[in-house]
Amino acid sequence: MIVGGVARVPGDKSITHRALLFASLAPGTSHLGGALTSLDARSSARVLRQLGATITPLRAGRVVAVRGRARFRRPADVLDCGNSGTTTRLLLGLLAAHPFSAILTGDASLRRRPMRRVTAPLARMGARFIEREGDGLPLTVRGGPLQPLRYELPVSSAQIKSALLLAGLAGEVEVALKEPHGRSRDHSERMLRAFGYGVEEDGGWITFAPTGRLEAFDRQIPGDPSSAAFLAGAAVLARGGELRIAGVGVNPTRTGFLGVLARMGATVAVEDVSDQFGEPVGDLVARPAALRGTEVLPGEIPAVIDEIPLLAALASRAEGRTVFRGVSELRVKESDRLGLIAENLRAVGARAEVSGDDLYVEGDDAPPRGRVRSAGDHRIAMAFAVLATAPGARIRIDDLACAAVSFPRFPETLRGLAREAAS
Ligand code: S3P
Repeated sequence: MIVGGVARVPGDKSITHRALLFASLAPGTSHLGGALTSLDARSSARVLRQLGATITPLRAGRVVAVRGRARFRRPADVLDCGNSGTTTRLLLGLLAAHPFSAILTGDASLRRRPMRRVTAPLARMGARFIEREGDGLPLTVRGGPLQPLRYELPVSSAQIKSALLLAGLAGEVEVALKEPHGRSRDHSERMLRAFGYGVEEDGGWITFAPTGRLEAFDRQIPGDPSSAAFLAGAAVLARGGELRIAGVGVNPTRTGFLGVLARMGATVAVEDVSDQFGEPVGDLVARPAALRGTEVLPGEIPAVIDEIPLLAALASRAEGRTVFRGVSELRVKESDRLGLIAENLRAVGARAEVSGDDLYVEGDDAPPRGRVRSAGDHRIAMAFAVLATAPGARIRIDDLACAAVSFPRFPETLRGLAREAAS
């Protein structure tokens, strides 16, 4: 493939979830431009409507209007969070401070994902939880008045961190948190500061003070760097050309993949950066490159957590070996991503193995060929769709439709990269 032209990616998933949650608790009407309209974003909108917010339909290219209320109302029905771990965990934090019971559930993938990582510290703050089937959904939360919390997270995770910060917000109590290694994405902290809340970082501790107040707001949501990474990856594997991906969020807690790609020999330039609503936004410019293997260390993992499927797929085209150290978190994503990356790389003829918590990928220049099982995991499907653009590749993916969880029209966008160049 020869790439060219300017591509755009859908709105940032993490920021869209957070903007919908904040707007739903802000009295008045907020307007969100560029919001993600994917299945996960719709899951957040759906459950927030059940809790009393009025949210206009999420449609591509339309501004979303959200009429919020200072407190949620008791939902009449079970809250179905679909495939979205972020919806579930962040909402648990907010519901922990509301004096009613709510039942949360989700699809088969989400029901398998661990929730005690958020319910245990929320229970320390005073919320109560009833599990139906062990550690996971369905789950009943009964909130109420909360106590302050000082807590060291067992894993670096923006979902756990944000759930606890949002409990502090809704419960109006102080929260102090420490992540074990590496800094997870900080969109919640940036948004809280914008509303006047005290969020400080000192000696590895993040402290929250309930000094602010949510008010209706209007904002533009940048393109999702995790979605842009797939298009940049396709440009790196291309035979020629140059691809610009415009208007992408380049928050450093999200763009660790740029550093890893640079070490692999693929420099993706970041241009025209400006500040938009407290988040840096710019264009990514990617070109074909000859890749070499690298070692990705545990401290780097939080900033590349969603890009590892893509980076592992690219590593299979690199010269030499790539190692991702300390990636056990991948076992509890939308699928067991760790096992599935290795299994699928082997299925297309590459050498990959999991040893303890590390993932090893040996590069090769034989064309990747074979059948890939996505297990309904959007990022696995998209990573292998990118690998399928490598010269000579012949890869069949059982389900690429699941890309719509985070990237509506992904197959068309990927095909369009080559078309743009042709026109
Ligand atoms: C997210 C945090 C990450 C990431 C997920 C979105 C968020 O999960 O994998 O896609 O928006 O906070 P963890 O924080 O659990 O690693």
